[in-house]
Amino acid sequence: MLATKPMKNNQQSTPMITKLHQLFQLPESGTPLICLAPMAGFTDGAMRRIASQHSAALTFTEMTSAMGLLYEQSKTWQLLERMEGEAPVMGHLYGSTPESLAGAARMVEERGGFVGIDLNAGCPVKKITKNGAGAALISNPRLIYKILAAMRSSTSLPLTVKTRLGPHPGKVAIFEILQAAQDAGTDAIIVHGRFTAQGHGGDPDLKLLGEVKARATIPVIGNGGIRSAWDGWRMFKETGVDGLMVARSAIGNPWIFEEIRAALAASEPPEIYDPTRGRPRRDLKAIRQVLLDHLDIQRELLMRHLALADCKEGALEIERALAVTFQCHLFRYLSGLKGSSYLRSHLRNLKSMDSIIAAIDGCIERERAFRDRG
Ligand SMILES: Cc1cc2nc3c(=O)[nH]c(=O)nc-3n(C[C@H](O)[C@H](O)[C@H](O)COP(=O)(O)O)c2cc1C
Repeated sequence: MLATKPMKNNQQSTPMITKLHQLFQLPESGTPLICLAPMAGFTDGAMRRIASQHSAALTFTEMTSAMGLLYEQSKTWQLLERMEGEAPVMGHLYGSTPESLAGAARMVEERGGFVGIDLNAGCPVKKITKNGAGAALISNPRLIYKILAAMRSSTSLPLTVKTRLGPHPGKVAIFEILQAAQDAGTDAIIVHGRFTAQGHGGDPDLKLLGEVKARATIPVIGNGGIRSAWDGWRMFKETGVDGLMVARSAIGNPWIFEEIRAALAASEPPEIYDPTRGRPRRDLKAIRQVLLDHLDIQRELLMRHLALADCKEGALEIERALAVTFQCHLFRYLSGLKGSSYLRSHLRNLKSMDSIIAAIDGCIERERAFRDRG
C-alpha cells in the first residue's frame, strides 16, 4: 500500500519530480510526490502512520516551536514523537529569528528520525503571527532568506519552506519568497495557493501556482483545496508542480492519497469532483478497520507521551484522554454516514475505548441498514 511502489502506466516523471524523490531518498513513484500536510492538533504519529499506510509518501509533524525546543519543553518535544511504520517525516518548525530556527533545526537533526526540516512561513493564526512567526514572515522575504540561510548552515538535512502566495490578493509576495528560498539554499518550496487573508477558504490560485512552478529552479509542492483525486489531478495538470500536499481532506479520509496516486497514474482523467455529493461511498468494513487501527496507534502514542512525561495516570484517565484526543478524527471518519450527526453532538459522552468502539459500531450498523434498504 505504500507510495514507494513504482507505477507502470502513464509515467509522468520529470527531472524535478525525480529530484524531489531523491531529496528524501524515496524510490521514484512515477508521479508527483504525494504528501500529508502539517496540521496542528492532527498530524501526530498516529495520523501520519495511517496516512503512510495509504500511500502518503512524505508527512510533516505538527507545527513545532523553535523556542520550545531550545527551552527543552517536554510538551514541544512530544510533538516530534515518531511511530514505527511511518513514511518519511519532516520536522515542521516555526519561529521568528534565524538564531532560534537554526538552533532548533540542529537539535532536530541531532535527535534523528527526520528526513528533513520544514520552515512554517504561512500560518495565519494570531497567536503565531503576533510573535513575528508563520504568515508574519510573508511580508519580509529578506528575513525568510536570513532564517533559511541560518537553518541551511546548521543542518545537512533537506530544507523546505511552506508558505503562501502573499498577504492578500493585492500583494503577491511568492516570487520574492521563492527567490529568497533559492538564494538561501533551500531544497524545495511548498506553496499553499492562497493568500494569508483568505485563511483556509476560497479556491487556490492555480494560475499563480503554475507561474511559481515555471520560475522555480527547485522542486515545488502544491497545496490548497485538494479535496479529491480530481482536485489533485487538476492541480498537477494545470500547474505542473512536482508534489501535491493534502491537508483537511485527509482527516478521517486516508484513502485520498491512494485515489490521487491512482488518478495520476491512469490514462483517463478522474471523475470531476462534485462538492455537493461529499466523499465517495466507502466500504464500511474498511472504515471500521482503519478507525480501529487509528485508535490503537493513538493509544500507543498517548502511552508513550505519558511515559515520557513520567505521568502515572490511572487506566480510567488514560481512556478519557484518548477519547478526547480521538474525537476530532472519529467524527471525520464517520462523516456522511447515518447517525454521524447524532454522534457529533454526543462526542463528549465518549469517555473510554469501549464507548468509542460502540459508537463506531452503532454508526456503521445504521449506515449498513440504510445501504441494504437501497
Ligand atoms: C487544523 C489545521 C491545522 C493546521 N496546522 C498547520 C501547521 O501546523 N503548519 C502549517 O504550515 N499549516 C497548517 N495548516 C494549513 C495546512 O497545512 C494547509 O496548508 C491548508 O489547510 C490548505 O490545505 P487544504 O486546502 O488541503 O486543507 C493547518 C490547517 C488546519 C485546517
